[in-house]
Amino acid sequence: MQQTVLFLLVVLVLAKVEGDPGDFRPPAVPLIVFSPHISVWSSSDNLTASDTVHWSGSPLPFHGLIDVDNSEVYRFLGTLPSSVQPMVQNKLVVQPWRTIYTLSTPTNTVELILTFSQPTSIEDPFTYITFNLRSLDGKTHSVRIYFEEGPMVGVNDKDEKVFWSRVDSDITVLTMNAFNQIPFGIRGDATRNNWGYAHLISPQRSSFSGYQGFGDDLRQAFANHQTMPTDDTRKPRHANDQSPASAFIINFDQVTSQTVSNYLIFLYDDLYSMLYFEEWQVPCWRAEFDNNVTLLINEAISYYQSNMQDITDSNEMLITLLGNIGGDHYAILGSLVTRQITGALSRTWSAKQNRSQLYMKEISSDGDVSTVDVIFPSSPFFLWLHPEMLRDVLLPVLAYANNETDIHYNLAWAPHHLGTWSVCDILSEEQEQMPMEESANMLLMLAGIVQKLAITDFLAPYWNVMEIWAQYLNSTLPDPGNQLCTDDFEGPSPHNCNLALKGILGLGAYSLLLNASGQAQRASVYMAQAQDHANYWLKAARDNNNYRLQYNLPNTWSQKYNLIYQSILSLNLFPADTAKLESSYYMTKMLDFGIPLDSRSNLTKGDWTSWIAAFNDNEGQKNAIFDKLYKFANESPDRVPLSDFYDAANGHVLGFRARPVMGGLFIRALLESPLACDIYRQTKIPTKRHGRGNRCSPA
Ligand SMILES: *[C@@H]1O[C@H](CO)[C@@H](O)[C@H](O)[C@H]1NC(C)=O
Ligand SMILES: *[C@@H]1O[C@H](CO)[C@@H](O)[C@H](O)[C@H]1NC(C)=O
Ligand SMILES: *[C@@H]1O[C@H](CO)[C@@H](O)[C@H](O)[C@H]1NC(C)=O
Ligand SMILES: *[C@@H]1O[C@H](CO)[C@@H](O)[C@H](O)[C@H]1NC(C)=O
Ligand SMILES: *[C@@H]1O[C@H](CO)[C@@H](O)[C@H](O)[C@H]1NC(C)=O
Ligand SMILES: *[C@@H]1O[C@H](CO)[C@@H](O)[C@H](O)[C@H]1NC(C)=O
Ligand SMILES: *[C@@H]1O[C@H](CO)[C@@H](O)[C@H](O)[C@H]1NC(C)=O
Repeated sequence: MQQTVLFLLVVLVLAKVEGDPGDFRPPAVPLIVFSPHISVWSSSDNLTASDTVHWSGSPLPFHGLIDVDNSEVYRFLGTLPSSVQPMVQNKLVVQPWRTIYTLSTPTNTVELILTFSQPTSIEDPFTYITFNLRSLDGKTHSVRIYFEEGPMVGVNDKDEKVFWSRVDSDITVLTMNAFNQIPFGIRGDATRNNWGYAHLISPQRSSFSGYQGFGDDLRQAFANHQTMPTDDTRKPRHANDQSPASAFIINFDQVTSQTVSNYLIFLYDDLYSMLYFEEWQVPCWRAEFDNNVTLLINEAISYYQSNMQDITDSNEMLITLLGNIGGDHYAILGSLVTRQITGALSRTWSAKQNRSQLYMKEISSDGDVSTVDVIFPSSPFFLWLHPEMLRDVLLPVLAYANNETDIHYNLAWAPHHLGTWSVCDILSEEQEQMPMEESANMLLMLAGIVQKLAITDFLAPYWNVMEIWAQYLNSTLPDPGNQLCTDDFEGPSPHNCNLALKGILGLGAYSLLLNASGQAQRASVYMAQAQDHANYWLKAARDNNNYRLQYNLPNTWSQKYNLIYQSILSLNLFPADTAKLESSYYMTKMLDFGIPLDSRSNLTKGDWTSWIAAFNDNEGQKNAIFDKLYKFANESPDRVPLSDFYDAANGHVLGFRARPVMGGLFIRALLESPLACDIYRQTKIPTKRHGRGNRCSPA
């Protein structure tokens, strides 16, 4: 049976032309995105129209030039030198793990396909940058490619001192780093780690020459066909003092109509990734590689072909699955957000726990570590593709709530977060309080994991905390009073119906957890209790043609996105016509760029809108809602990594960007194609690594 389905799927994959993104215009394009601090984007249509930036918009420049026949020089990446003409950009494709630019010289002599490829195993802190060249005019050309990283890769601020060094063996490794190495010396939202080492790596020595020095000089020398300067020795120096750079020149002596290819690797070794309540945790790969970055570098080179094949397979499978489920626009959106989601994660190794740990950054809304109400909206991505990752990101939260750290956690509800990236140290009294929100989020996600993986053993130490949370939910239901929910940017909303709905489903989720661990009796008590609260809700929240924003406010409405967890968990607390009534009502509120979050204003959330689209059982209406999300991504004038928070009337971004919450888009796939997910997982693509063990991706 499984094999037949797998076979059918393979046929499907082969039959479908690679998802053509047509004229989709990403709001910003992911280039090198594998952690919250190494997150390099282009925020223009053309790669040469602006310099690359960190997700926050701060400068993180990379530059690229091409020289054809030692005569024509063009830019293909970045704005400098401005005197040099840009290449013509013919095509841009963003796939889940890969971004591909097709460029040609204005004279149509040579085509360059520039590809940024991200390994699908999320703990690999490196990106392959591949250069494919071919002649367009029937002649043979000699081509040189110049690729440069600026000094900001190693520091957080331009006033910090940068140091550089190189190793030339069978390969060349050009390293740039902050001169003062103080792990965890800074923390915050838009801040980037200013410790660790950025390595730009050539996979062999022949055809590559490496240079380190003042970036302007290197570029000018290349552009003017001059001898390249010898390595700069005035180090360390400030990043903004004759900005130091590392660059490679790659020689392609004979470029004919047959494509020739070579590549570089950008790799970041941050030495320490997370300070979890006094435990300094290394990036997980260090535990697999004996703390030796050379071994990781060697592996990245040895397995280039296999990694590239996995990336291709995964891209094709995801694009095909998403396309079959929701059409081309849905596949394009899913492709755009994949690295945005995984790039918010950090996989570490805990020596104390003797296992890997996963953390998620609340990017751009305050830089918190593992905010429960940020993990929650992202959860469909993980429940669809890799429930183990969701478990791994929740375990450090559970451990904290269970007094396994040096903090005494004495709240009767689930924590909001663990600290400010990348330090976990928050006291209970410093917690942002969202009691019903976070307690229900935890129980709902845990029930989702238990159903998907059919395991409960990981919960063994946590029955006590889960019982505390369930009791808390019950004690404040059916009316949560004046609590904050995750949509706190609109201020408090007492007696909030969507929050109450979540609490009720959370209680149902606790019942499922009890039942799954063989406690059927207690499970039925909790389920009956949840049903009582649901019955109250159905009456008290009801307005004429919809359910209210708050129990006490007639003539109001709100997106009841939490209702989708009833479908995820197959609960039956709310009758099917709840979703139907709400869905038809939302359609009457549609604006140019989507449906507002509630009756208070025109602002909306892309993650939550995906959720309400998913419980609309009218295929046409469902597609219409996802098309609005596509329209926002495609047309918003604000060129930042996809935002989840915008004005539904005019498509302007209202604040957040690059947040992993866009994992919520995958809700439709999770509900409509759970079997496809199993097949995807059987391929082990999401975790496949070559040449090492699986300590970082525990089953
Ligand atoms: C991008 O490049 C294309 C051709 O290379 C050109 O037609 C277009 O004007 C450029 N767009 C911008 C915004 O520079
Ligand atoms: C790291 O691995 C390389 C390659 O095997 C080896 O040459 C080097 O000695 C190792 N470094 C340390 C510190 O063990
Ligand atoms: C760590 O876990 C592994 C595998 O689960 C086990 O083989 C090993 O003995 C453990 N090490 C320690 C120090 O507990
Ligand atoms: C954790 O410790 C605090 C303070 O000592 C206590 O109030 C709380 O009940 C403990 N929590 C659990 C789950 O044991
Ligand atoms: C409760 O668990 C039993 C197996 O122990 C299962 O057959 C049943 O479907 C479960 N009920 C619910 C509501 O999940
Ligand atoms: C829920 O709270 C009500 C009211 O306090 C109480 O009567 C009931 O026993 C509680 N249910 C459970 C399952 O604890
Ligand atoms: C919401 O958008 C509609 C349609 O553009 C507009 O008429 C209305 O004034 C907007 N409301 C607010 C509160 O901005």
